[in-house]
Amino acid sequence: MPRKETFNSRESVVSAQPRIHQSAPPIQAYGTVSHALPLELEEPVRLEMTEQLNLLLADSMTLRDLYKKSHWQVAGPTFYQLHLLFDKHFSEQVEIVDEIAERIQLLGGVSLAMAHDVAETTRIPRPPRDREEVPVQISRLLDAHQIVIGHCRQLARRAVEVGDDGTNDLVISDVLRPNELQVWFLSEHLVAVPLAVADGSGMRKAG
Ligand SMILES: [Fe+2]
Repeated sequence: MPRKETFNSRESVVSAQPRIHQSAPPIQAYGTVSHALPLELEEPVRLEMTEQLNLLLADSMTLRDLYKKSHWQVAGPTFYQLHLLFDKHFSEQVEIVDEIAERIQLLGGVSLAMAHDVAETTRIPRPPRDREEVPVQISRLLDAHQIVIGHCRQLARRAVEVGDDGTNDLVISDVLRPNELQVWFLSEHLVAVPLAVADGSGMRKAG
């Protein structure tokens, strides 16, 4: 029986050797969207939304990593509680990041992925490599949340204006609301109340 020919004569060689070190040009450039998709969303809308979502993605990835840094480096009497809380919020941010990145791909775009690109894109200020006190760690996290939340509110409104209801829903339900909840859990740790003996002076002006 004659040997079956393949289109590529190299493929006809049977070998257990993995073909490593392969390279080829990219199949889609960053900053573009697939031309036509059956989503009833025009290309310019998908371009704008994916660009905005990539900014939100970069900030969320940075916030996610800031939580892990805080989880590892936390110190002091509240170590155990905060060590666990920071890691819980980290895990929730992992899910948020995945939702945003997959929305970008769904809209025909290309999501940011690597740390180098995230570092060049995020609006969250770079923290030092050093360990910091708990109130500084929490303040840093709250400032990062504020950047994410502010962008969520803008982006959600814009998504409605351009008719991208899916992005509006994602930004409100899967990004904004979990971030608001995390802000609550964090900010309560910056309320100066006594641990063992009541102060007794009642409400005072914050200073
Ligand atoms: Fe851990």
